[in-house]
Amino acid sequence: MNLTRGRFISLEGGEGVGKSTQLKALAAALERHGLGVVVTREPGGSAGAEAIRTLLLEGEPGFWGPRAEALLFAAARSDHVDKVIKPALERGEWVLCDRFHDSSRAYQGGGSGLSDADILTLHRIGSEGFVPDLTIVLTLDEAEARARAKSRDGGAGDRFEQRDDGFHAKVAAAFRSFAAAEPDRIKLVDASGAPQAVTERLLALLAPLLP
Ligand code: TMP
Repeated sequence: MNLTRGRFISLEGGEGVGKSTQLKALAAALERHGLGVVVTREPGGSAGAEAIRTLLLEGEPGFWGPRAEALLFAAARSDHVDKVIKPALERGEWVLCDRFHDSSRAYQGGGSGLSDADILTLHRIGSEGFVPDLTIVLTLDEAEARARAKSRDGGAGDRFEQRDDGFHAKVAAAFRSFAAAEPDRIKLVDASGAPQAVTERLLALLAPLLP
């Protein structure tokens, strides 16, 4: 039995910053290092949370009010933490998660106006306030991010991606303020340039956590 708990890393940022590409590259690098790695995502990552993801991301903008939406994200996260994240960490595996609770703080908080205290209360109830060992926020110029997201999905987007520039600017500002408030856990990383160069920047941050 592996008695060393794995590490829990979340990757955050707005749409089109390259999170999925980077998660794949990071997982491959950690596996080459001999680590077991689980790559997962939010909303989703467990059967129950994927069902909630469908409820959240389909449908017209405004179908859910911000409070109902925040509760659904917290419920999905609760299932994901219990069924997937904590068991993997207890097996000694590393968990790389595409978004986690800082997305709720940035989107339902910064973007939609709920208070950070309320979001954190929902997280305490749903997931006992469980937080990543390290959170990396990929940052990218808004125009470049939009172009990347558009080339990925032809501009269709889910109902979050369809929100206006003002919303996305508030989300980006929220992520920056979280990083300023919790500099040990949350690191901002420039996502511009070649994907391999971005991966190198991320691996430099993971290096101190390696066994
Ligand atoms: P994705 O595009 O990274 O798959 O994420 C789906 C959308 O859900 C994205 O626009 C961000 C949004 N979201 C929230 O609003 N709150 C959350 O807690 C999470 C995890 C995602």
